[in-house]
Amino acid sequence: MSSNPNQPAQGQAQSSGSQRIGVLRETFPLEKRVATVPEVVEKLIKLGFSVSIESGAGEAANCSDDAYRAAGAEVLPNAAAVWAAADIVFKVRPPSTEEVALMREGQILIDFIWPAQNPELMQQLAAKKVTVLAIDALPRTLSRAQKMDALTSMAGVSGYRAVIEAANAFGRYFNGQITAAGKVPPAKVFIAGAGVAGLSAIGTAAGLGAIVRANDTRAEVADQVTSLGGEFVKVDYEEEGSGGGGYAKVMSEGFQAAQRQMYAQQAKDVDIIITTALIPGKPAPKLITAEMVESMKPGSVIVDMAAEQGGNCELTVPNEAVVRHGVTIIGYTDLASRLAKQSSTLYATNLLRLTEELCKAKDGVAVVNMEDDAIRGLTVVKDGAITWPAPPIAQAPKPAPKPAAAPVEQKKGGHGHGSSGPLPAKTLAIIFAVAAVAFWFIGAYAPAAFLGHFTVFILACFIGYMVVWNVTPALHTPLMSVTNAISSIIAIGALVQIAPPDTAGSGRPDELIRWLAFAAIVLTAVNMFGGFAVTRRMLAMFQK
Ligand code: NAI
Repeated sequence: MSSNPNQPAQGQAQSSGSQRIGVLRETFPLEKRVATVPEVVEKLIKLGFSVSIESGAGEAANCSDDAYRAAGAEVLPNAAAVWAAADIVFKVRPPSTEEVALMREGQILIDFIWPAQNPELMQQLAAKKVTVLAIDALPRTLSRAQKMDALTSMAGVSGYRAVIEAANAFGRYFNGQITAAGKVPPAKVFIAGAGVAGLSAIGTAAGLGAIVRANDTRAEVADQVTSLGGEFVKVDYEEEGSGGGGYAKVMSEGFQAAQRQMYAQQAKDVDIIITTALIPGKPAPKLITAEMVESMKPGSVIVDMAAEQGGNCELTVPNEAVVRHGVTIIGYTDLASRLAKQSSTLYATNLLRLTEELCKAKDGVAVVNMEDDAIRGLTVVKDGAITWPAPPIAQAPKPAPKPAAAPVEQKKGGHGHGSSGPLPAKTLAIIFAVAAVAFWFIGAYAPAAFLGHFTVFILACFIGYMVVWNVTPALHTPLMSVTNAISSIIAIGALVQIAPPDTAGSGRPDELIRWLAFAAIVLTAVNMFGGFAVTRRMLAMFQK
């Protein structure tokens, strides 16, 4: 029974017309996640919904029944009671046949469904005349859908956990160390596939101090690999691997042969391999052969994240950690669930964002608006009709080209450069001629003292330009602080003035000037030491 006096009686829908969200205990073996957490329950209630939780649903994710009650949810004794009470059901794993049997017409289910892999389940759901939003069918290319992207949240957690599993099975430090007992080299980690899970693994392994290398068929991820502290290893074969929508395509035989050669070399060299290579809707590409495993050093570790799709390694056994040729091969398919509290919180937040989209009026009533691209993509069954797959999202019309611009430029410059390209030769020649005349004029008529300062000024401009333009934009903030510190060179002026010549003819230097010079030295010292200290700290953030 709910301890909250404002709650309606068990399982009873609210009379106000607002809907009830039901959250179930996951029944899939090994699954520890739960579809909502107490912190999110409060926010769902603020949207106007009431929430019912099956008793013990959050236990494995460290969310007690009492915590849900305190957040305002009603705790029901079993799954049947939740299915009976709820208008909208939140789940993590696709429903079992027994769970589908408990559904009733008009209910909305929000869940991972994998419609391509589960055609039978889709038929069962349609027969129940329910509406199903498959969180895995979210159109990921829509930037406003990112907040609902549970695939990304789960892959991020799993990539992290893959490194932790590898570290657990590996017999050495990840980071290099120099100890009294000798030098320990850093572990070498190779990541195959730099998608969401791969990038998360790269960041985690680099953070632990390992030398990280990664490969992906999509060349565009190379910068992301580098920015996370990894080294992108290219396959010696020219072929674009992008299949559109941020996913890969199946590569040619020639590419695959060259890739196998490179992977064979890496296998001999590295201590840990984490494979995440995936092409949606296809079996996982076999990247690590039995011979490659055999060539690895004893004690090495492979974490095959694609185990559920058949594995990227030939010797992977799904859901198990096996030792082959002295190498531990981990094929766990529940990596996100192994960090249950974290992944449940992220998943619950993704579902909250989706609920906000479904209930823009904040009146506790979900509206499945099929005109909305994100909601359309997610909806795989609508009132009993299978609506999967969603039609491709119409691309926003590209800005109209400017046909007149190029010919006009061509006429002007004679070389057809766009406005952002280098200046045409004729314009450059005019600029140089004007500058030369101006310098000659200054040289001929300006006083000698001015010329000296002017030369220094021009040189300073030139050096400043070269420095700023040759420093990576990411380092412009530390560059500014170091330039600020260098500007403290004005301290020299203050040093000269601290013992100024006797101006009053009294035999004593002017006291006021001395004190001002002293103040200037103190302030420039703060600027100088502070500037260098801040620069050092900022640069440390960019160093491994
Ligand atoms: P993703 O689609 O974001 O990334 C896959 C990457 O593999 C892409 O960057 C793609 O270009 C790359 N790739 C494809 N073929 C390749 C090849 N032949 N060589 C090199 N790279 C190749 O997928 P995400 O979300 O990062 O997931 C990665 C894998 O991890 C998937 O298999 C997914 O099912 C699995 N996964 C496993 C979990 C577990 O508990 N074991 C949990 C979450 C995800």
